[in-house]
Amino acid sequence: MHEAAFPRAERWGAQAIALMLALPGHFALLAVSDDDPLGFAMGRVAAAEAEVLTIAVRPASRRVGAGAALLGALMAEAARRGAAEVFLEVAEGNVAARALYTRSGMTEVGRRRRYYPDGADALVLRAGLGGRS
Ligand SMILES: CC(C)(COP(=O)(O)OP(=O)(O)OC[C@H]1O[C@@H](n2cnc3c(N)ncnc32)[C@H](O)[C@@H]1OP(=O)(O)O)[C@@H](O)C(=O)NCCC(=O)NCCS
Repeated sequence: MHEAAFPRAERWGAQAIALMLALPGHFALLAVSDDDPLGFAMGRVAAAEAEVLTIAVRPASRRVGAGAALLGALMAEAARRGAAEVFLEVAEGNVAARALYTRSGMTEVGRRRRYYPDGADALVLRAGLGGRS
């Protein structure tokens, strides 16, 4: 699913994902419909901060709410694990993801210049968890 969702230079293979999931504080969530996987999200929590590591929805399953459901579930799980705020990086030109994050209450708090392999800037977004802003 990750390979189908991202440009070649940004794809994570199964081995990389398995290694990440073995690290402390890392977790993954799977969205399914009638046993069909629609997409997945990965996050991590360290002390009171969480990070969205990735969200990927299969191209054929987009715009039916899976991405929003995964982000909401990731935020809830991060809060359950003790995080008070969540951060992520998104490519400035990623219209779909930015719309999803804005709709979910995330706001821009920084920029990493030429962060991606294609030279695009990353925006750093943040949201408060558990009712805090
Ligand atoms: C970003 C991504 C996860 C969104 O998943 P999705 O399941 O299609 O998202 P949803 O159906 O939950 O959409 C929620 C809202 O996000 C916004 N949105 C999603 N896709 C959009 C698009 N292509 N254009 C504009 N807005 C979009 C809309 O506001 C949408 O609500 P609406 O459908 O009621 O208008 C998906 O497009 C994807 O996997 N992209 C490739 C991987 C990627 O870029 N991941 C994020 C990396 S930071």
